[in-house]
Amino acid sequence: MSVNIVIGTQWGDEGKGKIIDIMASRADVVVRSQGGNNAGHTVVCGGETYKLHLIPSGILYKDTACLIGAGVVIDPKVLLGEIDGLSARGISFGNFKIDPRAHVIMPWHVELDGLSEKFRGNSDIGTTKRGIGPAYMDKYERSGLRIYDLVNPEIFAKKAKSAGELKNKIITAVYGGEALDVEAIIAEYVEYGKRLKEYVADVSVLTYEAAKAGKNILFEGAQATLLDIDFGTYPYVTSSHPISAGVCIGTGVGPMIIENIIGVAKAYTTRVGKGPFPTELDDEIGETIRNKGGEFGTTTGRPRRTGWFDAVIVRHSVRVNGLSSLAINKLDTLSGIGNLKVCVAYKKPDGSTLKDFPATLEELEGCEPIYEEINGFDEDISKCRSFDELPKACKDYIARLEELCGCKVSMVGVGPSREQNLER
Ligand code: GDP
Ligand code: IMO
Ligand code: MG
Repeated sequence: MSVNIVIGTQWGDEGKGKIIDIMASRADVVVRSQGGNNAGHTVVCGGETYKLHLIPSGILYKDTACLIGAGVVIDPKVLLGEIDGLSARGISFGNFKIDPRAHVIMPWHVELDGLSEKFRGNSDIGTTKRGIGPAYMDKYERSGLRIYDLVNPEIFAKKAKSAGELKNKIITAVYGGEALDVEAIIAEYVEYGKRLKEYVADVSVLTYEAAKAGKNILFEGAQATLLDIDFGTYPYVTSSHPISAGVCIGTGVGPMIIENIIGVAKAYTTRVGKGPFPTELDDEIGETIRNKGGEFGTTTGRPRRTGWFDAVIVRHSVRVNGLSSLAINKLDTLSGIGNLKVCVAYKKPDGSTLKDFPATLEELEGCEPIYEEINGFDEDISKCRSFDELPKACKDYIARLEELCGCKVSMVGVGPSREQNLER
């Protein structure tokens, strides 16, 4: 048996989808435990590209069970669209299940996400506007609708009516927006519930039983550590726990079954949405990295902000997640850009040095990255198929990241496809 978690160590889009797809070849079960369709995970195989938002990235293997745990928030329309799109490409959903406890993203959540962002004006978070925050708000306020409700039309109609009417008051009276047609929404969503009913099963039980049977389980993280509601750059974060501990809460299993926690990082740093980014590059190098790395959001298409590798944030991730090892993706993107810089610590405005990522934005304010320069490389490494084939400068770069982050690197990515992953 092996039970692994794959988690993002930066601000998302580290290439988790690729690593999960590769590891899923050895997994019996792949489970998602938090977030929703704010995620966009890309899997490239056999010349085909799949962009997954809700469906676990193990879905390309027909015998792998793909489960969505209680901690995920589900937009049923998006989920069904994804099921239909993948089914049309020959992907099987015979082993796909959703926990009845997972909360449903309703149209008013999407509407309120947009309205509250607009209301914040220049202080907006830069959310994906998928209704994630408002759906989690209702969950914790104990007024949310769950998948169990959705697939039981009478219960759903009653709960959705009262929820929708209240949200309409907020939409119109607080934000000056237009009321939604609650009856029409109920009629539409009851149909979604009918289609999703066949997939509903207790994911906590399924995962526990798989563990007891000695099966290989892979937990698929979405978002990333610096977007965690508590351990990220609050308030510029998402509304869930994308850290390793979130896996247990969002699936309903105990921490003792976990054996390995793999943190995925890019060989540099990116961020979509607003919020602090100490090593951000607003220059030609940043633009080159964006274009070479195709750094445009998988979910929203927004250009991703780019910058140097920040060992302070990855060290934070090593600690917060208890990482066993790191997977460093997109090393190929750094070829030909000259010498590389890595942030080793921050210099505070009073001249002192900060080694641990601070708890608040106020403490981060005015901090400047302290860089170490490392030799770059010009070779095309995308055709390397083993770590030993990499040029010396690449090996030295990886070795330095290991030292600075205090964690071994077990995989290096030199391209988006399955075979462009060098395992050590
Ligand atoms: P995720 O959200 O963490 O799954 O990452 P995304 O799919 O949003 O973004 C990662 C992007 O980088 C995708 O377009 C991947 O196909 C691509 N990618 C992943 N690993 C590598 C790599 O090692 N090299 C290159 N060039 N691209 C990669
Ligand atoms: P994957 O799984 C990158 C960011 C948004 C925004 C903030 C809050 O593909 O790595 P939300 O819609 O969640 O309320 O937005 O979080 N964000 C992501 N950034 N990758 C993601 O997922 C993200 N999911 C949310 O851009 O800054
Ligand atoms: Mg992504």
